[in-house]
Formats: sequence, C-alpha cells, structure tokens
Amino acid sequence: MPYKIISIRIDGELVTAREGETILEAARANGKQVPTLCYLKGLSAVGACRVCMVELAGTDRLFPACTTPIQEGMSIRTASAKLALYRRMAIELLLVERNHTCSACVSNGHCELQSLAQSLGITHVRYAYNNPHLPVDMSHPRFVLDHNRCILCTRCVRACAELEGASVWAVASRSIYSHIVSDLNDEWGNAHNCTGCGKCVQACPTGALAEKGFAVHEMVKQSDAVTRLAAQRAGSSR
Ligand code: FES
Repeated sequence: MPYKIISIRIDGELVTAREGETILEAARANGKQVPTLCYLKGLSAVGACRVCMVELAGTDRLFPACTTPIQEGMSIRTASAKLALYRRMAIELLLVERNHTCSACVSNGHCELQSLAQSLGITHVRYAYNNPHLPVDMSHPRFVLDHNRCILCTRCVRACAELEGASVWAVASRSIYSHIVSDLNDEWGNAHNCTGCGKCVQACPTGALAEKGFAVHEMVKQSDAVTRLAAQRAGSSR
C-alpha cells in the first residue's frame, strides 16, 4: 500500500516523512541526531527513559520522539538548551538510582548509558546516590544479571518476547523497587522458558546483562544484530 507523505519541520528544516512514522524515525531518516536509550530499532517503543524528548512548536510540553507520531505541519526541535538540561537530568537520575560503578563494570567503555553521560558532559551528579544493595544473579550457565547496572529500559524484556518468543523477562514491583525478573521470579538459571539465545544480553545497553567469562571493559554488545534480526523477521512476515 502506498504511504502518504506529509511535510514537517525539524530544526527549522522543511522535510517530508511517511505518515505513521514517529518523530524519531522521521528525524533519523533526515539525518538528525536524537539520543535514545530505551529505544532499539526493531523492538516496540515504550518511551521509558525520556532521553529522546523533543520540543514541539505551540506547546511547552516535551514529547518523547520514540513514541510520538508525526503529524502534518508539525514543527519539531531536537536540540536546545532546555532539552540538553532535561536529558542531562534524566541521565543523572538513572546514574544515582543504582550502582553504576563504571570502572568495575564489564561494559565499561561499551555502555550506552556511559556514552550518553559523556556526550552530555556529565562529570558529576547533583542528586544523592541511592546506593541500593542489589543482588547479582549468576545462576545461568552462560549469562549474568547484575541488577546494580540495570536501568529498567526493558529492551531485554522486549527482545525476548518479540524476537525469541520466550517471554522470560518481566518487570516486578514499583518505583525504586522495580526490577527485572525471569520466569515467575525464579533465578535465571531455573527459567524454563529461557532458550539461552542471548538476545536479551545483546539488547541490553549497559552491563546489567552480560556473558560469563568477560572481565571489566570486555563485554561489547551487538545491539545492531538484534535490529537486523528484527528486520529479517519483519521482512519474512510480509
Ligand atoms: S528512547 Fe524515547 S523514551 Fe527512551
């Protein structure tokens, strides 16, 4: 079915986009950089991290680019002092919520949270650290779950459900007690649904999910492989 093409403005530039696309998709298709964390191309978008917020003309509210559909005549701003401040705050709040000790993390140097913090010039945080005492689940024969590094982006939950069809992961509890659980809140090693495919590990943007046997700095994720797999699946189901 042919797509309807609509006109929008992004950072003052008049561009065209397909009806039904999100602001993020339209922006990226037109070469605009919008930072993201919980979004991973190929998985459903949930708007959890609020890092991709953009400004829309005519309202003071900020909108998540990954879940907001474009509309004819929309005028979008992807970069401003206000957005930089807001994105910085969102990352700082993630950093203080758990224990992101990069120097002792398996994903140090290959972490999307760390990269975003660096690109936003975050050298310190302005909020009190929660310093929660969180467990590390080593029960799986091949993988590790370190709750201390988890930012609850749910990319693992979606990769497992939408690509592997196993639905091992879910989020339990609320607020600062929210945490990822496998199967019915059993240890990962006891999760009967887990196929050991590792898609959740590759989708994870931080060191929360990692393969065993990797030391500090060694875990390099292949999140683009998850995206490629999703594209193949989408192509074969047409
Ligand atoms: S990337 Fe859009 S809210 Fe997280």
